[in-house]
Amino acid sequence: MRLVLKSTTRGSILNWGKRRRMGGTGPFIPILGVASCVVFIYLSFGDLWPAYPVGPAWSFVQRNGTRFMLDGKPFYINGWNSYWLMDHSADNQRKHKTTAMLEAGSKMGLTVCRTWAFNDGGHNALQVSPGRFEEKVFRALDHVIAEAKAHKVRLLLSLVNNLKPYGGKDRYVKWAWEEGVGLSASNDSFFYDPSIKKYFKHYLQTMLTRRNTVTGLEYRNDPTIFAWELMNEPRCMTDPSGDTVQNWIEEMSAYVKSIDKNHLLTVGLEGFYGPKNPKRLTVNPADWAADLGSDFVRNSKVSHIDFASVHIYPDHWIAHRSFEDKLSFVSKWMLSHIEDGHYELNKPVLFTEFGLSNLNKDFQPSQRDWLYKTVYDIIYKSAKRKRAGGGAMMWQLFVEDMDDSNDDFGIVPWERASTYKLITEQSCKLAKLRGAIEENQNLKELCLRKQ
Ligand SMILES: *[C@@H]1O[C@H](CO)[C@@H](O)[C@H](O)[C@H]1NC(C)=O
Ligand SMILES: *[C@@H]1O[C@H](CO)[C@@H](O)[C@H](O)[C@H]1NC(C)=O
Repeated sequence: MRLVLKSTTRGSILNWGKRRRMGGTGPFIPILGVASCVVFIYLSFGDLWPAYPVGPAWSFVQRNGTRFMLDGKPFYINGWNSYWLMDHSADNQRKHKTTAMLEAGSKMGLTVCRTWAFNDGGHNALQVSPGRFEEKVFRALDHVIAEAKAHKVRLLLSLVNNLKPYGGKDRYVKWAWEEGVGLSASNDSFFYDPSIKKYFKHYLQTMLTRRNTVTGLEYRNDPTIFAWELMNEPRCMTDPSGDTVQNWIEEMSAYVKSIDKNHLLTVGLEGFYGPKNPKRLTVNPADWAADLGSDFVRNSKVSHIDFASVHIYPDHWIAHRSFEDKLSFVSKWMLSHIEDGHYELNKPVLFTEFGLSNLNKDFQPSQRDWLYKTVYDIIYKSAKRKRAGGGAMMWQLFVEDMDDSNDDFGIVPWERASTYKLITEQSCKLAKLRGAIEENQNLKELCLRKQ
């Protein structure tokens, strides 16, 4: 497997070099042609891999029915969110935080990190204006991917925000409006305005075919990327029927797959049930949740969507309820979605964000441990029974001295021993199910020492 992948990589680079050369040369005599080609290839290798440690090649994460698969074995995810990796990597003074975070995550046995592969307009923008990209920031994302690979962490890359931070759909709408092509001032026109959909497709095309300046690989060919996520938390309140978001998912997921068939794709949903699923409405945190224009089962059923995504925010969604009530909501919420993955979707369900705010008036850090434990136990039980719970990812992790990027959910995991223990134990339990502990030095140190 390793050899095959490695030679594919070499092959594609060689072809790329050849194509470029052939484009520019006329009819040489054959021997001279071959010789100059060899020289050219030699030079382009030197160019493309400036002493980058190649390491063993690795495979794409795939899925079989309700389970993620890696190298022919089920893959259950203990993961985390650090949205800020590209942004920090764009500044030389802050770049080391990316490396520190990925290294720490890897030491904790975490296998997937979810992060933003977008920054539309504003400070450190990747996309400065429609179709104009800042090379310095793209190189920062190249760096994030190369560092993730170096630390054996895969990435779930989100492609646009429904919310305002880092531009989001509002920025696209503003751009269209400024260029005089936007049909509507509603920020939901992101989902249906033809000009805006064209902007976004152009962005997708650029992202998927980006050639990483560190590794030489196109993003669409890089197994370091675990999956793409269309949008962080899509909502379209101007169309509670759900048709607008549904059409957008169908169109954009087909577009992604027309360019990149290697990677898994998810939507980025919060997981609310919509009007087309009346049986499930009582699982929603409250009545408002059915009117946001998203619909978990219907959206996740789209054929090009490989797995479902769900978020878990009891203290935003049912703020007034007791902590015990919140935990029982979390259990019910998770079990319901895992069941949908099994019976309705035949796809894995990944809980891509969960967390607890420290702004609640009765907040105690031990409550976070309770939440983490609740989530982790459900994932583990599901995995053990070969059900559809594919894993869970904390919102969100930092390293020290990052208060300016933190919110009321973030933690530095080693600052609280009990939390650290919960996280690492989950890594070990999931790795053990997969039989993967012996394969990985970090897991060996983490999981074999105390058992
Ligand atoms: C997928 O899973 C099914 C059922 O567990 C199994 O029969 C099949 O061999 C699997 N396919 C692959 C490619 O692993
Ligand atoms: C759209 O978003 C912009 C920027 O966030 C905001 O100022 C504006 O009020 C929004 N427009 C509508 C119609 O909600």
